[in-house]
Amino acid sequence: MSNMAKLVLNGKEYSLPVVVGSEGEVGIDIAKLRAETGAITLDDGYGNTGSCKSAITFIDGEKGILRYRGYDIADLVNGGCRFSEVAYLLLYGNLPNKEQGEKWRYNLTHHTLLHEDMKKFFEGFPPHAHPMAILSGMVACLSAYYPESEAHIEINTIRLLAKAKTIAAFSYKKSIGQPFVYPINHLSYAANFLRMMFAVPSEPYEVNPVFEKALNQLLILHADHEQNCSASTVRMVGSSGANLFASISAGIGALWGPLHGGANQAVIEMLEQIKADGGNHKKFVELAKKKDSGFRLMGFGHRVYKNYDPRSRILKDAADKVLNQAGIRDPLLDIAKGLEEAALSDSYFIERKLYPNVDFYSGLIYRAMGIPTNMFTVMFALGRLPGWIAQWKERREMEGLKISRPRQIYIGQTKRAFVPLEQRP
Ligand code: SDX
Repeated sequence: MSNMAKLVLNGKEYSLPVVVGSEGEVGIDIAKLRAETGAITLDDGYGNTGSCKSAITFIDGEKGILRYRGYDIADLVNGGCRFSEVAYLLLYGNLPNKEQGEKWRYNLTHHTLLHEDMKKFFEGFPPHAHPMAILSGMVACLSAYYPESEAHIEINTIRLLAKAKTIAAFSYKKSIGQPFVYPINHLSYAANFLRMMFAVPSEPYEVNPVFEKALNQLLILHADHEQNCSASTVRMVGSSGANLFASISAGIGALWGPLHGGANQAVIEMLEQIKADGGNHKKFVELAKKKDSGFRLMGFGHRVYKNYDPRSRILKDAADKVLNQAGIRDPLLDIAKGLEEAALSDSYFIERKLYPNVDFYSGLIYRAMGIPTNMFTVMFALGRLPGWIAQWKERREMEGLKISRPRQIYIGQTKRAFVPLEQRP
């Protein structure tokens, strides 16, 4: 592989350095392109543009491979990893040993409480407030309580990972008018969250071990995904020197969109729409193929995966297991499987390499746990939090404080004379 690429522009030849990653990915370094040629590149939606070098997560979209710091996600999920261990892996580069893991879990456990004044914020939210609005607002407000400096980044990382699930559970309790349930320190991350969501002060609450295990797996599978829309947002905002809480709050906003993390909520709404319409999934597969229908198969397709999303493969099995073990029959799972089977044998989806993505089955598992549909994207955010923070830290550690600022090609009006108001037609 040559380490230089040739570009011919206006009859002149230029050489551009070629960068090859540890998995053989090839990038053409255009850092000096404009200075040398006066031209920039154009890539709407960044589908062909690398924004950085990163050592956190590797995806091979053609082969359907996803690894965190070199570990295949199936090995982490099937190897009995705790979500807290995967968070440590993403943030610090290696799985923790016994002592490191215990110290990390102690820290995460002892920062789960919110400042009591922050509880008052919930009184201002209307009961129907979307929990993503509450999460992004409350995360940004953490910067009012915990000032940011280089010296505070580690403790603020711990505070954010620990408090986000408390904010999420409190937002659910607020929406149903029940009292907040405080975290309990001997419980795992997943068990603590489920208890804060579903316990009530008037009776004991036992966490369902099937749900605790499934939630731990869901959080691991969502923990990072290289330069997706929300992670790129976090890196972009962090590049201006904005503090960790402000940067993550921006990432939460990006994730909310139905084309991104909001898809898990949209999938269940789509499946319910198909069920209400009589359950004829083939009719909706046909609808999704019609450009002017405005209907898409939510949970299908991916900018990077042109093969089965490895997370979706794991989640499809998990959905079966969780519903069976919990003794739940959900007709939406049958509709989802029918949709998948019909789409994967249809030339429209085959030609465009559209497969189920992480959002296609995840909502069915959250639903089985009793988590309301409008909380599904919050669940995605709780899982993605360590990945976002790792990406934010890597950006600052690798490139220092160098602001990200893309260029553009202007296609608007060229210079024109000012027309005073009285002369405007
Ligand atoms: C996530 O980037 C990440 O890593 C994201 C994520 C992560 O972990 O962070 O993996 C999480 O966001 C998963 C994706 C969740 N979104 C959805 O499930 C929404 C439904 N999917 C799509 O809207 C779409 O597939 C995207 C947004 C996911 C990807 O869009 P692209 O890469 O811009 O592809 P496209 O919209 O240009 O589609 C290419 C073609 C088009 O047809 P043609 O114009 O070529 O004829 O495929 C069609 C699209 O119409 N198409 C679909 C479709 N997705 C794409 N047709 C029907 N149903 C779909 N779901």
